[in-house]
Amino acid sequence: MSQPPEYRYRFWLPLALIAALGLFAWQATGAEEHGEHDEHAEGSLHEIMEELGGHFKSLRKSVGDAGNNDQTLATVHEMQALMHAAKVLTPHSIEDKGAAEQLKYRKVSAQSLRVMCDIEIALLAGDQDAAKAGVKELNNLQRAGHNQYKK
Ligand code: HEM
Repeated sequence: MSQPPEYRYRFWLPLALIAALGLFAWQATGAEEHGEHDEHAEGSLHEIMEELGGHFKSLRKSVGDAGNNDQTLATVHEMQALMHAAKVLTPHSIEDKGAAEQLKYRKVSAQSLRVMCDIEIALLAGDQDAAKAGVKELNNLQRAGHNQYKK
């Protein structure tokens, strides 16, 4: 015996609504996990930069000290990982400026990462002078990056 149409709606409509809400919540969580939520990404950039600052201080102190090479290498390795994460995030200062600005920011960040690799290569070769020159270059890139992108 079949039910009148309004009974069928009473059963299926709430179920369809719950399914739609569940799908929406699931998609929103996925977007945040992938860094698509702006606040999440920008908060991270500040934290990453703060940490980078601490490591750069120790790098400046230890570079040139051959006896401390292993520690200096470990510091540079940490800095590379931080810059690797920072370069795909969006600074507050350019969040409304579109894709071209984002790519310019990424370019300066990638240049910094390259200099960090140059410093690593110099340290692995035991060339303290080349490592010191790299630190100077990194300092210039930091200054340029902050002039352009730090509010
Ligand atoms: C060795 C290189 C770098 C170090 C040690 C460093 C360190 C720091 C530190 C300590 C801060 C926080 C400062 C504060 O809040 O007063 C900061 C912020 C920032 N840095 Fe760097 N930085 C470096 C390179 C760069 C580069 C190359 C760029 C750009 C391409 C950049 C972009 C920024 C931006 C956009 C902020 C502001 C982040 C925010 O608060 O949301 N930094 N950085």
